[in-house]
Parts: sequence; structure tokens; C-alpha cells
Amino acid sequence: MTRPHYLRIADALRHTLAAGALRPGERMVSARKLAEREQVSLPTALEALRCLEADGLIVARPRSGYFVRPLTAASALRPARTPPRPVPVTMSALAQSLFSSAEARLIPLGAALPDPAWLPAATLQRALQSAGRRLQGHGLTYSMPPGRLDLRAQIAARAAHWGARFGPHELVVTAGATQAVRLALRAVCKPGDVVAIERPAYFGTLLMLEDLGLKALEVATDPVDGLLLEPLAHAIARYRPAAVLASPTVQNPLGASMPVERKQALVALLEHAGIPLIEDDVYGDLAGEAQRPPACKAFDSSGNVLYCSSVSKTLAPGWRIGWIAAGRFQPQVLQARLAGDWAGSPLLEAAVSEVLASGDYDRHLRRLKSRVHASVQAVTARVEASFPSRTRVAAPRAGFLLWVQLPHQVDALEVHRQALAMGIGLSPGPLFSPQADLRSHLRLNCANEPTPRLLGAVGQIGQLCHALCTA
Ligand SMILES: Cc1ncc(COP(=O)(O)O)c(C=O)c1O
Repeated sequence: MTRPHYLRIADALRHTLAAGALRPGERMVSARKLAEREQVSLPTALEALRCLEADGLIVARPRSGYFVRPLTAASALRPARTPPRPVPVTMSALAQSLFSSAEARLIPLGAALPDPAWLPAATLQRALQSAGRRLQGHGLTYSMPPGRLDLRAQIAARAAHWGARFGPHELVVTAGATQAVRLALRAVCKPGDVVAIERPAYFGTLLMLEDLGLKALEVATDPVDGLLLEPLAHAIARYRPAAVLASPTVQNPLGASMPVERKQALVALLEHAGIPLIEDDVYGDLAGEAQRPPACKAFDSSGNVLYCSSVSKTLAPGWRIGWIAAGRFQPQVLQARLAGDWAGSPLLEAAVSEVLASGDYDRHLRRLKSRVHASVQAVTARVEASFPSRTRVAAPRAGFLLWVQLPHQVDALEVHRQALAMGIGLSPGPLFSPQADLRSHLRLNCANEPTPRLLGAVGQIGQLCHALCTA
């Protein structure tokens, strides 16, 4: 079979880049010129450029075309591979001091939330009304664990598209992914146990470990390829954690996703070691083009993966609809759900089920992903233009979070303090490590319209960093 034109052209472009014909940051040939030169259609030329973009070799800038990935990008941000050791998590005081009650009024570069204007409010309203009519008074009672069957059937059917092998009966509906992960930890760990996590890790996870009296074992995580298996294997051999808790698809804060073969290898490694994997897939639906990549759960044949997700990052964070497919730990999870915060809302569960069933969710996702992509590009370009030159950015392939490494003399907590005084939200690096280090990092939320005001705020953060560099 002949190789499609776009793949042939993409190969040739890769060779050109590998030969160093263009320097980082330089503009790539435009799609139009490429089409002329290669005598192919414009869509074919564009497809070739998108292949390079998917490889992380080039980046798109709105209305300017493609550029060779600047040196400030992920390749320069490789994680330190210092051997990990388990540590108690001590960051709740810091987290409390940083969460501002004014968050809702800040320029929203802080919390990892999509712009409310990007959520399908009319669709959700319609679903709520229709579910209300269908359920009548029953909509107001308790939804008993494991949660409504119509919702569980929709979740299982969607997951089957990316290869998951669980059915509705293996799912428990939860109050967001947060409760799902908490139930998973309760099911497989006891106080004092060690849990291997990514470095950097989502601070909600860290707060939960602290609350449950669990120790954190940070494992080096690559800004592009996610959790690194070699250091994980060493950490397992040395400390034998009770569980590994990770987000292999679109990690928070890095935006990294493990390649499919590595996900498979991770599942095999942990199955062999008899250590459960708690997979937090809350951003998974934001990955991929037409079809999202498989989660680790797709490769789980023994029930060793406790798969957790929600609609919080794509549909309705405040509705608190999440779920867990806990594999062989299902009885323990169900028991913990019953014993704890035991009932859900039938009305909201039925409404989400309708949105998933209607096809509206997929239409909304396509739009959301393209908005997110454009906004991440715009914020990245503004960071590159306005932050000190030794700043590094982990350019995410999916999701809406930007992890920024500042020059070492800039203290992210001070940047956060001064930005807050200017009405700008951001998440400082110490939030993402159990020891509250990572002081020269920060995370920017890009899930908002890149208005002049928003991009202006990014520029102001850049100025703060410049000032702190020279202070
Ligand atoms: C990695 C990760 N997991 C879980 C959550 C919380 O999800 P939910 O709102 O569904 O509880 C978040 C929210 O920021 C997150 O980033």
C-alpha cells in the first residue's frame, strides 16, 4: 500500500528539523507554501504539519502559523531524577493560606476550571427540565449507591469506545472524581501506608493523602510522557507502596500524557507487583482528536486498576457527578460509599445521563477542545514574550494547564502574593509537592477566552517575575 501523502511529507519535514535546518522558535514553512511545493492540497499540507505538532516538534500560534518548538518548551524541563523517599504530606496550612475567598473575582489563571461561558448551559438546563419531568418527585429523593443505572450505562458505553472493559454493574457514581479517588484510597490503603504519586502532583490529591494519614512517594514525571516507569520500578522495589495514584492522560499540572505502550507497561508492572493503580482520568476526555486515547483501565484484565473520573472538567463542575470502576476492589469501594457520604442526586445523575446519551456532549467536547487549544497557544505565546528569558514552559498537548518553570531566583509564592494584590489568580508551585518545594514553578489555567485582559494579566505576571529576578 502506498504511504499517504501527508505522512510522507511529515517524514520529510522531520528530517529537515532533525538536520537542524531551522532553529527553535523559527517559523515553519506555511501550509500554503508546503502545498505548492509538494503539489498536494492545502488540507494534506495542514495534516502533515499537524503530525509534527502532535509529535511536539512544532507549535501553532493563532493567526501566525507553525513555529519550531522554542527552547523554552518541555524538552528543557525534564524532571530531576533524584531518588524518591516517602514523606508525610504537610501542606494543608499552605493550601488554606493560598486559597483566596476572592478567587471568583480574580482574573482566572488560578483554579483548574473551564470558563463558565464555555460550558453548555442551555443543554444542561434542557436536560435538567426533561429529567425533572421524567422523574417527578423521585428526582428529589436519594440516589442510592451505586447510583442510577441509566448514568452508569452511559458511562460504560462511552468508556467502551476507548477500550475499557467494565460494564454498568462495575461502576459506582460518586460526588466528583475527588470522592472517587478518596474511596479508592480508602479501599486499598490504611493510615501510615505509602502511596506513589507523580512529581509534580495535583494538590487535591496531596491534601487527601494528608487527611488520610498516608505518606507520599514522589516519582519523576516527564512533562511530555508522564510518569516515568524506571524510577517507579526502583521506588516500588525499595519502598513497596500500597498504591500508585496517577493521571496517565493529561496530568495536572504538567499536561503530560503517557504514550499508549507505556500505559500498558505501567498496568503490567503494577499487576506483576500486586500494587493497585488508582487512575485519575478527570481530564481524559480533553485528549485526542476525534477519539480520545485509551486510559490505563483499557489494559486491566485482573481488576487491579481503580479508574476514577468525572464531568467536572468538561461539563458541570458544580454538579459533582463522578464515578469509579474499582475492579477487584469494588466491594470495598461500595462499602466505603455506603458508610460515608452515601447518597447522590437522582435529578443531576439523570440529567448528565441524558446529555451523554444525546450526542450533545460530543459536540460540546469538540468545541471545548478547540477553544482550549487556541487559548493555551495564546497564553503560551504571551508567557514566551513577556517572562524572563530563562523561563521554561511545559507546552501541553492537551488539557488547559500550563506549567511554568521560572528562573531559580524568582519565588513563586511571592509572585502569587503580588499577583493576588493585583486581582490575578495563579497556582504557585509549592502547592504541587508534598514538601511544598517547587518554589520556582507556577501553574496557569488557560481555560478562558484569551481576551486582552487575560493576556494582559499574563504579561503582568511576567513583569512581576522580571522584577523579582533583579530584586
Ligand atoms: C487531577 C484532578 N483530579 C481530580 C480533580 C477534582 O475533580 P472533581 O471536581 O470531579 O472532584 C481535579 C480538579 O482540579 C484534578 O485536577
